[in-house]
Amino acid sequence: MKHSGKFITFEGLDGCGKSTQLDREASRLRQQGLPVVTTQEPGGTATGRKIREIVLHASAHPLSASTELALMFAARSQHIEEVILPALHAGKIVLCDRFTDSSVAYQGYGRGIAPDAIRTLEDLFCRGLRPDLTIILDIDPATGMNRARERNRAAQEKETRFEEEGLEFFRRVRQGYEEIARQEPGRVRLIDGKGSVDEVHLKVHQEVHEQVRKVADAFLKAGSSGGVSGV
Ligand code: TYD
Repeated sequence: MKHSGKFITFEGLDGCGKSTQLDREASRLRQQGLPVVTTQEPGGTATGRKIREIVLHASAHPLSASTELALMFAARSQHIEEVILPALHAGKIVLCDRFTDSSVAYQGYGRGIAPDAIRTLEDLFCRGLRPDLTIILDIDPATGMNRARERNRAAQEKETRFEEEGLEFFRRVRQGYEEIARQEPGRVRLIDGKGSVDEVHLKVHQEVHEQVRKVADAFLKAGSSGGVSGV
């Protein structure tokens, strides 16, 4: 799909630190004067937030794996239409916390739905939109589970349906991410999520910087000649 922006997604197990890294990178790009939109899945729109409530907190009601997958794509379809595409067409850098790779890793490898079937849904619902760059923060599943629990305790938040899953589930999800990285080395960067926030951010920033350079040059040039508005 042709657009003048950059679509960058952040992926990884619950508790891998991607939301922190996404916020850091967004601040850094904004400090450079670049137009950045941050968003997340499931969520990102009013409809998406309602769906998020169902898929993350419906523990009182059973939800089959295929229903879960369908809801993720319903939220995504609306998100693309309402938020992501308009921003990309306006030449912005969109940093998105989770996207289709989460469906492949969690519903595919985690829940056992064929990854190829999920890619077919992607063709149908994402209208050819693929990220320009995907950063997967890799961590050991036990570390991720502990971090996610700590975070929930500190924020006094209930665990999500996913966070209630056991270690085996997260091992499968991690394998899924490794497989995605192997299959698409041009788009996907697997970054070690161990280490301090600063250490990981250095690696994240190098990858993002490489990717946004062209957008940044065009944007800053237009800005210096007075051609930029509305960002
Ligand atoms: P969230 O609270 O955003 O978790 P985190 O901050 O760790 O990313 O919850 C999102 C959860 O939804 C997460 O456990 C992964 C799951 N998910 C899927 O299973 N499939 C998907 O397609 C998406 C977008 C998320």
